[in-house]
Amino acid sequence: MKKIVIRKPGGYDRLVVEQHPDLTPADDEILVDVQAAGINYADCVTRMGLYASAREYVGYPITPGFEVAGTVRAAGKTVSDLAPGTPVFAVTRFNGYASQLAVPRRQVFPLPATLSFQQAAALPAVALTAWYALFELAHPHAGDTLLVHSAAGGVGSMLVQMGKIAGCRVIGVVGAAHKVDAVTALGADAVIDKATQHLWREAERLAPGGFHVVLDANGVATLADSYRHLAATGKLVMYGFHSMLQTRRGIPKRLRLAWDWLRTPRFSPFDLTTRNRSVLGFNLSYLFDHGAILQQGMQRILDWQASGKLRLPAVTPYPFEAVAEAHRALESGQTTGKLVLVID
Ligand SMILES: NC(=O)c1ccc[n+]([C@@H]2O[C@H](COP(=O)([O-])OP(=O)(O)OC[C@H]3O[C@@H](n4cnc5c(N)ncnc54)[C@H](OP(=O)(O)O)[C@@H]3O)[C@@H](O)[C@H]2O)c1
Repeated sequence: MKKIVIRKPGGYDRLVVEQHPDLTPADDEILVDVQAAGINYADCVTRMGLYASAREYVGYPITPGFEVAGTVRAAGKTVSDLAPGTPVFAVTRFNGYASQLAVPRRQVFPLPATLSFQQAAALPAVALTAWYALFELAHPHAGDTLLVHSAAGGVGSMLVQMGKIAGCRVIGVVGAAHKVDAVTALGADAVIDKATQHLWREAERLAPGGFHVVLDANGVATLADSYRHLAATGKLVMYGFHSMLQTRRGIPKRLRLAWDWLRTPRFSPFDLTTRNRSVLGFNLSYLFDHGAILQQGMQRILDWQASGKLRLPAVTPYPFEAVAEAHRALESGQTTGKLVLVID
């Protein structure tokens, strides 16, 4: 088998393709011959050495990757319902950037006939993140107004659509003009292009009473203002900090990082209470022990997809060996939808 290994955190040159012996599944595992592996911004943060759960659960060397699609190669002794050759997709805590993945049965789903390997590998991480943020944490009501930052990206494009499924008015924010049409096509009621418009003036014009839910993975660049623009009873869901990660050749600028860490708002319990606002946060990679939640989320996502309510992310494929190029593209902030590694 081949896999991408990061032996030490750093820039793009740390992503090295290595040959390793074939895997054998444990008793409760499925061994998947991977055809496509989803790329997430968290994989870039793992490469930089700044992803907490990567250090906690694996350490370095590490193979990143949270999601794959492919065919069953073999099943462990206690697994009887997925025969070799069955097309599947799976979520995994790391190790997805590989031609083989051994993963517990409960994290594997049969591939719906309408999905290609690339589409399925692009779906679970971003869709589960958006589902958890909206339906497990924010619980928006129909008619609520939502603000979705980075609305054209992997998670953002799912949040826009799920906000509409919940019956909400959705305002998307993007950082470049070429992303506006993509977010409009996803169903957003308005799109703010912060490269050409004043983000918060425009947000106030579109929602003078504030937002019932703001979904923010920018971190320091917008968190304080996102909180300030909540309506009474509003909820701010934080799920990432990508604006902290200014890099040079893929290596974070350490001084800037420290400064941004210091500048990141700490929310006051007194303010939260008197203003009736909530601040919520989560990280999917710490939810793998809550299998039932993920299964429930995945079922709803697949139902929405099958009924045509949820469109799959637009996929940009990259050859497995071009992983560095894919990371560079994702970190450029210019991509829309999802990037996927394709294994031949
Ligand atoms: N908590 C969780 O469980 C969880 C799970 C999945 C993802 N996430 C987080 O969700 C966010 C989105 O992830 P994704 O994989 O779907 O990525 P993505 O949204 O497809 O790409 C990242 C986007 O973030 C914006 N951005 C702002 N500053 C950036 C910077 N310094 N470097 C790169 N991009 C920057 C850009 O969009 P605009 O300029 O248009 O804003 C860029 O296109 C990330 O912060 C990720 O860590 C969290």
